[in-house]
Amino acid sequence: MKKFFLTTAIDYANGRPHIGHAYEKILADVISRIARLSGKDVYFLTGLDEHGQKVEQSAINRGVTPKALCDEVADDFKALCSTLNISYDHYIRTTDEYHRSFVQKCLQQLFDAGEIYKAEYTGIYSLSAERFVQEKDKVDGEWPADYGHVTEITETNYFFRLKKHQRWLIDHIETHPDFVYPKFRAKQVLEFLKEPINDLCISRPKERLSWGIELPFDKEYVTYVWFDALLNYVSGTNFGDKILGDHWPADYHIIGKDILVPAHSIYWPIMLHVLGYELPKTLLTHGWWLLSGEKMSKSSGNIVDPLDYIKQFGPDPFRYYLMREMNVGQDCDFNHDRFVTRYTTDLGNDLGNLLSRIVNMLHRYCKGIVPGFDVGDPALGELRELWNATKRGVLSEYQTLTFNTALERLFAFISFANKFIEQNAPWKLAKSPESSDQARLKTVLAAAAESVRLATLLLAPVMPSTAPKILSSLGATPEVTWNSLEFGSCLWNKTVTENVILFPRWEQNLS
Ligand code: ME8
Ligand code: MG
Repeated sequence: MKKFFLTTAIDYANGRPHIGHAYEKILADVISRIARLSGKDVYFLTGLDEHGQKVEQSAINRGVTPKALCDEVADDFKALCSTLNISYDHYIRTTDEYHRSFVQKCLQQLFDAGEIYKAEYTGIYSLSAERFVQEKDKVDGEWPADYGHVTEITETNYFFRLKKHQRWLIDHIETHPDFVYPKFRAKQVLEFLKEPINDLCISRPKERLSWGIELPFDKEYVTYVWFDALLNYVSGTNFGDKILGDHWPADYHIIGKDILVPAHSIYWPIMLHVLGYELPKTLLTHGWWLLSGEKMSKSSGNIVDPLDYIKQFGPDPFRYYLMREMNVGQDCDFNHDRFVTRYTTDLGNDLGNLLSRIVNMLHRYCKGIVPGFDVGDPALGELRELWNATKRGVLSEYQTLTFNTALERLFAFISFANKFIEQNAPWKLAKSPESSDQARLKTVLAAAAESVRLATLLLAPVMPSTAPKILSSLGATPEVTWNSLEFGSCLWNKTVTENVILFPRWEQNLS
């Protein structure tokens, strides 16, 4: 079986999860589920970034130890994953022992190879970005807002040689067009690499930061948060006594655009190159969820709590909205009214209503049993053709990560299935004494049920808890596979359940 390894960024353990975090996990989960349904051996890694000054500072502000804060935050993030049905294989915490010892092993290896050296340095430090920043990072002469408060610091520290690998990195990016997705972001990375890069300061003196992994060759220092965090992608594939096999290299590192340059596109490939690992195939870089045009973030406090939406609408409508609205790679504004419209229109009126009409009519006209039908019936021509085109389009868009248009296509098919019922008016056929009308009644209902079954199978990666409910209510086995995506008679003779309300009418106001 072809191995498929994907990761998300590991979240800072200094606050509660917001939609940005939820989105990244949903995106990774949808891709994982598609890969599993396509027959790949998937390993999906996510987790929590627990060291560093931000976490230490939050713990001090709350009057708890950093470890106690991390335990609490880890519970919060894992609870969100479970509510959202995130099918990760392993949840890494950077305070896990196997991770700490792996980071120390890597540091020692680089130190022994002369890739790490000690020097005094004066630089401008951003606590929000947890790194030294450079004048060239300024936009229009100003520090970007997400750097927060910056201060000048002079310190003796350890440095990792980045500069000497700059040419190699440029060559790698130029010869691997899939290394950064979307492509316009690869241009940004290459633009950044046009100027000489600085070596990377990889330590913090313990008197400034104690909450970190100690350097194996100098006990007065801990390692810098990014150096520690990035290595999770390797340490999290092979740990402790649970050897999960060799999953490296990653097919996708899923990250937000704010951590592409320099962390994932400069530090990380050079670290791997010098340590002797293969490079990941693709840095899948998504955009930001915005609220009225502003980035949603802990530091600015303009946050949509995913749990508010999940509580009121359920996890699947939330997953659907995020995947349907966001064009992967671009930014997207989170809009409450749009959310409610998608819920009411796409999910309630189109999908939910289609299923309940079919189930009701099968009870009324066919004793609750899906009749047999002739798949070759010319009356089905348009529906069947549209399904074939939809299937091809959706499967191909799932591979190109264009989930918004894939879902648009899928819901166009669902809405056509509703139209198919309207046009054929089973309620009129049922009243006719003609035997040809009675035969058509059966064909129309069976074909409509088959359309819902097929659409559900392709919708399953995005709506994994709704799909089994729909399949069960049609009398099919609730387990989703992509072995039978052909328009056929899978449901023949199955008994449908009582009418199900998938998406109850929404009337409340979010408080
Ligand atoms: O950066 N919209 O952690 P983090 C979309 N610990 N995505 C967003 C977002 C938004 N409004 N806000 C944040 C870190 N994200 C580091 C990562 S990886 C070795 C270490 C995304 O909690 C962000 O881009 O600040 C990142 O990919 C992830 O959420 C975690 O952000
Ligand atoms: Mg952040």
